[in-house]
Amino acid sequence: MTADETQTLNDIQHTTSTYITPATESALYHSLRDHWHPVMYARDLGDDRPAGVTLLDEPVVVARLGGKVAAFRDLCVHRGAALSLGWIENDRLRCAYHGWTYENSGRCVEVPARPDLPIPPGACLNSYKAVESGGLIWVCLGNPTFDVPRFSEFNDPNYRVMHGESYEWNTSAIRRIENFVDMAHFAWVHPNVLGSRDHPEVTDHEVWRDGRYLRFAHTVKEPSNGEIKEQLGIADPIFDVLNEYHLSMPLAIHVRRTFPTGDHYVLFMASSPISQKRSKTFYFIVRDYAPDERFDQSFQDFESLVLSQDKPIVESLRPEEIPMDLTKEMYIRTADAITVEYRRWLLELSKGY
Ligand code: FES
Ligand SMILES: [Fe+2]
Repeated sequence: MTADETQTLNDIQHTTSTYITPATESALYHSLRDHWHPVMYARDLGDDRPAGVTLLDEPVVVARLGGKVAAFRDLCVHRGAALSLGWIENDRLRCAYHGWTYENSGRCVEVPARPDLPIPPGACLNSYKAVESGGLIWVCLGNPTFDVPRFSEFNDPNYRVMHGESYEWNTSAIRRIENFVDMAHFAWVHPNVLGSRDHPEVTDHEVWRDGRYLRFAHTVKEPSNGEIKEQLGIADPIFDVLNEYHLSMPLAIHVRRTFPTGDHYVLFMASSPISQKRSKTFYFIVRDYAPDERFDQSFQDFESLVLSQDKPIVESLRPEEIPMDLTKEMYIRTADAITVEYRRWLLELSKGY
């Protein structure tokens, strides 16, 4: 390795809970309030019960009220009960403690203990922006910088779309995303699954910005083992796969994989920041081949295997948040180009926070 192939290395702070988040990382975390994040699969949110979730350390209740998704701080303004313990009646959210009810706007419209008295004017929930899109419930705690990330295959009849099993990891949502787009780890973390140690090189590839997307494409040599690849009918033990990425800044990814047969495999994933050091990731497994439902389990098993290989590595990364001083870690030209561009853009987005 020559000197110009690396950038400066300072000591990586390989400590754990005593790690103090520097101001830049705090600014980055705070800036995430101004983006949409998924909090649950839309199919899991019923019409009769709200759901409690945590986003950016904030307890949030989401509910379908009057045909729309609503999100509020999960705290009744009367005595602070969790509204997620309540239920939905006539398109209104009723608190389980004393029965106060709230309409879609967050305004309290009923105080059952004294229906004859006027409702206090300040009886209004702290509400957040919420929307259902692409099979997910998205919430923004502040003012969204970009639109909700697009997942166009979700309603496309040419594709079979499966909900992946969502998972929580002890790492920041950004570290989770970085791992997903890390080209150099396939051969080492996923040998004979997504990569081959006989071909660990990361070849040159462009990384560019396109509107709100960080884009890149890369051809990898993949082993053809496993049922999901057997369905392609390719005889070669290793074949080229073209992976085309759209990273919706800051935390969602659409990757379209094209096999030599012309068949496609799409993953759409978004990692949601529960806190600075914990994330919940939602994803969809999409294909336009082997459409029979009997193959579904093999696709889920394949993704579960990949995730089980990534998890211990990613949860070991210290600090759990990425260091926003770029000199705190090392970067190799080409192999880490995506990470560098991603971090630079994140830094720009966090300016002013
Ligand atoms: S705490 Fe919600 S109604 Fe009293
Ligand atoms: Fe991985």
